[in-house]
Amino acid sequence: MRLLAVLSVPETQKVPHVVLVGLMGSGKTTVGRKVAALLGSRFVDGDEELEQRFGRTVASWFEELGELEFREAEADVLDDLLESGSPVVIGAGGGVVVTGRNRLRLQRDDVAVAYLHGDPNFLGSRAKPKPHRPLLSGDVDPKEILAQMYEARDPWYREVADVIVEVRPAHESGESPKWRLARQVVEALVNAELVAPEVVNHSVAPR
Ligand code: S3P
Repeated sequence: MRLLAVLSVPETQKVPHVVLVGLMGSGKTTVGRKVAALLGSRFVDGDEELEQRFGRTVASWFEELGELEFREAEADVLDDLLESGSPVVIGAGGGVVVTGRNRLRLQRDDVAVAYLHGDPNFLGSRAKPKPHRPLLSGDVDPKEILAQMYEARDPWYREVADVIVEVRPAHESGESPKWRLARQVVEALVNAELVAPEVVNHSVAPR
């Protein structure tokens, strides 16, 4: 009986895996948690998952093994998370699109990708140098680093994105920006017919 009930769920009412991409400071983790709450999905932060699985911090991957090794492990974790049977919302590390096999994986039908877009100047004023962000540590100007990253990565984010949400207006709106962004992401996914409107649980979000 249970199997029949599952099989009878129309295709459009299923929730896809959702991956949030964008530069450091765009809010993938905080917004992603709220998107997961709205969709009733599990949330996973890509960097935290990698640290837990391998027992190694992002900083030490970069320092001891190098960025290439980090990118390989990051891609393995993404692959694995997207094989999960139950829907998951992933806040991906900002560099996830650097790896070609991730870009291919993100374009498959079982995953909806939301690009949190912001201009690098704006994001540079928001992105804090945290332990998991070795590329922003030391004597560097975050705005300059993000400007370089933007040039290289913006076309890749757009290549994999199903929907694009602008982050700056939400921050300037005065209301709770992360909830506003989460609602915008979900609304865009619904408009793109990647998520059925009936599956969205609006009651979890403050108005
Ligand atoms: C990186 C972004 C970081 C982290 C690592 C590399 C990048 O994630 O994966 O430091 O190359 O942009 P966040 O975007 O979550 O800060």
